[in-house]
Amino acid sequence: MVFPRVCAARRLGRAVARGLSLREPSRPRLCSSGPRGARDEAPEARAYFTTPIFYVNAAPHIGHLYSALLADALCRHRRLRAPGAAAAATRFSTGTDEHGLKIQQAAAAAGLPPAELCDRVSAQFRRLFRDAGVSSTDFIRTTEARHRAAVQHFWAALRARGLLYKGLYEGWYCASDECFLPEAKVSRQPGPAGDPCPVSAESGHPVCWTKEENYIFRLSRFREPLRRWLRDNPQAITPEPFQRKVLQWLEEDLPDLSVSRKSSHLHWGIPVPGDDSQTIYVWLDALVNYLTVVGYPGAEFESWWPTTSHVIGKDILKFHAIYWPALLLGAGLSPPHRIYVHSHWTVRGQKMSKSLGNVVDPSSCLDRYTVDGFRYFLLRQGVPNWDCDYYEEKVVKLLDSELADALGGLLNRCTAQRMNPSGTYPAFCATCFPREPGLAGPSARAGAEDYALVSAVAALPRQVADNYADFQIYKALEAVSSCVRQTNGFVQRHAPWKLSWESPVDAPWLGTVLHVALECLRIFGTLLQPVTPSLADKLLSRLGVSATERGLGELAFLPRFYGHPCPFEGRKLGPETGLLFPRLDQSRACLVKVHRT
Ligand code: MSP
Repeated sequence: MVFPRVCAARRLGRAVARGLSLREPSRPRLCSSGPRGARDEAPEARAYFTTPIFYVNAAPHIGHLYSALLADALCRHRRLRAPGAAAAATRFSTGTDEHGLKIQQAAAAAGLPPAELCDRVSAQFRRLFRDAGVSSTDFIRTTEARHRAAVQHFWAALRARGLLYKGLYEGWYCASDECFLPEAKVSRQPGPAGDPCPVSAESGHPVCWTKEENYIFRLSRFREPLRRWLRDNPQAITPEPFQRKVLQWLEEDLPDLSVSRKSSHLHWGIPVPGDDSQTIYVWLDALVNYLTVVGYPGAEFESWWPTTSHVIGKDILKFHAIYWPALLLGAGLSPPHRIYVHSHWTVRGQKMSKSLGNVVDPSSCLDRYTVDGFRYFLLRQGVPNWDCDYYEEKVVKLLDSELADALGGLLNRCTAQRMNPSGTYPAFCATCFPREPGLAGPSARAGAEDYALVSAVAALPRQVADNYADFQIYKALEAVSSCVRQTNGFVQRHAPWKLSWESPVDAPWLGTVLHVALECLRIFGTLLQPVTPSLADKLLSRLGVSATERGLGELAFLPRFYGHPCPFEGRKLGPETGLLFPRLDQSRACLVKVHRT
């Protein structure tokens, strides 16, 4: 199956190769989300999510895990929209970026052959992501044969379109960031001996002067096509300030890009096809991983490629939003459908770095705070537009208040044997909580705040979906948390523990209060699945919600209130299996390991 957007992009790619694209007044739209808009893509449609692939020069830290969890939550939310169908139609890749000068130098410094360093560290990432419940369908390593074949094919496609030429490259190169820098982006910092050393003004990493004959990609030709792509697709890069930033970059000079290095200097990489004296630039190599995963250049990739959503950190925006779309257009393919950008984690106000010894080990965070707890923390506190600060007291405070006390306490209150001796989902009494407050009869007990609760929770799934579409997952969680608070307020207000099942006056209202609270909990559990999968499973199992009733399509909140039958009414609750989320032990010192090497 070939999607029209690929065809359009291919036409444009061919036009670019013919040198026509910059002059044509009207051209096909690329990767437009179409009239449905990004928010309403058909749930059965395919979706392909990616994380960046991670450098293997050092062990993973919490920032890496955050990148992967954001993509995981997006993907899990997507699958929930049509469980079964959507799960089969979803792909999600992650992996490791193993070539390049950075890895070559790290291996030399560790006294290891590069392949051995790659095997070790790649395995650490794989283990971490498995332990953290990252539900990827593919883990790619750029040292795999399938990837080498894809990169060499991609290179040949660029060359066939006349977009590569050999020329002298002279300028600064930053091995840590694996990028070339113009003089204006280089500053001087005192080195170990106090003498001024050139560093990247943005990252602070050291840079070296390089002068080499390399293959060069005609990036400068793509300024206008890139601008058009972004103009036609205002949601291509989310959140919006990052799209604006890319458009600003496109106002500036866009010089051609060196895409190979001399193999005598860089041997750890993929050789240029037909010219072993050159090694392909690691960023070109790395970016093609997204194509390799979906089977490029085989026919299969065509049905997945137009559905691609990349999750990336802000530091790699230029590579993904300028170089990558230009390379894709150059090779006759469409730019990514969406690029979701996030900011970084600092630790107690400082950038994480090996030299500061403050790199937080994510595995020990998973041990200490539990997988669901740490996932919740990172996604609840991580704001895509700004950097966020990590410190342990913040984790403990958030998890105790929102998961242990508010959510766990609510579940406990509504299911405890004392409150709910029959252990069932109680009946809802429509006369106690009539649909129209104005038409309330004498047995009506619900007040204005109760109606506000019902409308807040009824609107919650849409609000959460919109927040996911805008890549504001923290806002989705904030909205859930606010509704949890409101529900606790509802229970507190009506104090069901003061009502008696024995009293014919109290019992219908008591049942209704519990029914409403359990319905709210069912919605919260369903919506929390992408972020806290095990905790949500525990919650939904306790409510007696079966595996086939956990999708977003089946969510219908409080149907009895709207005059419809409720499948849960009278159902036996699931077995009691202990606290939903135990409070973290405050008395024990918070011992989360930091990497010191
Ligand atoms: N290998 C490249 C990506 C190639 S993708 C074709 C790379 N690797 S990385 O290991 O340095 O970074 C991987 C991801 O982790 C990036 O999205 C980066 O922004 C993210 N993070 C690195 N440090 C981070 C924090 N301190 N906080 C949050 N995310 C961070 O770049």
